[in-house]
Amino acid sequence: MDLALPLADPTLLPIAVAVAAALLSLLLYLRWRVRLPPGPRPWPVVGNLYDIKPVRFRCFSEWAQTYGPIVSVWFGTTLNVVVSSAELAREVLKENDQQLADRPRTRSAARFSRDGKDLIWADYGPHYVKVRKLCNLELFSPKRLEALRPIREDEVTAMVESIFRACTVPDKTGKALVLKSHLAGVAFNNITRLAFGKRFLNSKGEIDEQGLEFKAIVANGLKFGASLSLGEYVPWLRWMFPLDEDAYEKHNARRDRLTKIIVEEHTQARNKSGAKQHFVDALLTLKDQYDLSDDNIFGLLWDMITAGMDTTVISVEWAMSEIVKNPRVQEKIQEELDRVIGYDRVMTEADFSNLPYLQCVVKESLRLHPPTPLMLPHKASANVKIGGYDIPKGSNVHINVWAIARDPTLWKNPLEFRPERFEEEDIDIKGHDFRILPFGAGRRICPGAQLGINLVASMLGHLLHHFTWTLPEGVKPEDVDMSENPGMVAFMHTPLQVVATPRLPSHLYKHVPVEMNFGF
Ligand code: HEM
Repeated sequence: MDLALPLADPTLLPIAVAVAAALLSLLLYLRWRVRLPPGPRPWPVVGNLYDIKPVRFRCFSEWAQTYGPIVSVWFGTTLNVVVSSAELAREVLKENDQQLADRPRTRSAARFSRDGKDLIWADYGPHYVKVRKLCNLELFSPKRLEALRPIREDEVTAMVESIFRACTVPDKTGKALVLKSHLAGVAFNNITRLAFGKRFLNSKGEIDEQGLEFKAIVANGLKFGASLSLGEYVPWLRWMFPLDEDAYEKHNARRDRLTKIIVEEHTQARNKSGAKQHFVDALLTLKDQYDLSDDNIFGLLWDMITAGMDTTVISVEWAMSEIVKNPRVQEKIQEELDRVIGYDRVMTEADFSNLPYLQCVVKESLRLHPPTPLMLPHKASANVKIGGYDIPKGSNVHINVWAIARDPTLWKNPLEFRPERFEEEDIDIKGHDFRILPFGAGRRICPGAQLGINLVASMLGHLLHHFTWTLPEGVKPEDVDMSENPGMVAFMHTPLQVVATPRLPSHLYKHVPVEMNFGF
């Protein structure tokens, strides 16, 4: 993260200093009048921006040890409140849910979302309520999830085949593979098929031209999203840190061009053979009923890509890292899979209800490694009180769900990977139990939670039914790097390398593609 940007014009420095002094006085006045949560001492203008360590949720968790479960952190002149206890998370996401349901938008997020015309970056208001209702009732309904199941199962079996091929190539037998590269393909294909009805990668793993363009757009978007500057957090300094508006315009135009082509293809296909189950068809069908603009439809489609792709890859990679470090757990899942499914067929989602230990493994992994450790930021649309402290309107609020799920006052031996804790107690992970909030809670809870859980459980189930997983020769469990990459989502810092050994008859590793024409 590069925060040290030069001033655009040094002659403007005196003005900047004067404004800084005025703001500092205002800040001191506010501090005296309102009772803000405690926190590290902020520096003038930059606040705590330069004190924050790159892996933010770990840094905030350390600060919570010093200052308590609610901490003020100043990003420049913007107050950010970080909450690290289940009790206070309830106050934020339940008792004050509506007043804390806006979103802070960085300038990048504002450009990408056309100032919140999508779902993820929309403030809470009539537009949000409308598109959220549409998502809940139409895109993520149990019926739609079931209709899209063949896509998920198809992609998961494609992953199994790609791993089988990789680990049975003669000179690769017994060698480690980088798991993430196999997981990323499933997530990519699954999400592009679900949202756009497109599989850009063919069965040989070759990507077509539209797919290349799609990938380039996603990568470009991530690059923009990661570029932080002081101008983000000190609004009155923005004129010193101008954005490359041209680059954003070009990016958005490129994204719109591709989306329009895909939408057009769907409109024509729909006129010929009726609507299919993909989100793009659903949105086109519902366009008039929900009064959706093109910006809304495009925004929603790209939201699904942004929110749904990396989160599942991250969840499965972390789960597998815990599983290879804990052979006891691996043996127990495989015993369950062998008992319920056997050796002459592959697992399907219909098996889930008979695989309770697998479900516990998914929960335990999301507890220790939530892919979005600070959830997504919320913003106060009114003055509220949390934990007896004032949270002024306009402040950002973050919940450190990573820290809460490791709180020793809530969890016995919290750092131990022990799925059995979910057998001993029936604990919900979809927003009802504030000790574990991988999907958030309240009105902004992740609408893709069930889809995410199904995909993660299905990927894990297949990985463990089809293969035995071990660490490369000479690597001990304690050698696996369990640290995270900085960023809004928490990828493993060092991609997991593992050895896969097939354990089922070879005909069960064949991917049988589901034809797109079937309506999927
Ligand atoms: C294991 C997988 C996933 C995890 C852990 C996860 C987690 C989260 C979290 C923590 C939030 C923010 C909640 C808040 O601000 O209070 C969120 C929001 C969101 N997620 Fe997920 N997610 C996952 C998968 C998915 C998938 C598969 C999709 C869609 C295909 C999706 C779509 C969204 C959307 C659209 C939002 C924004 C909701 C809003 O602002 O109202 N997520 N997710």
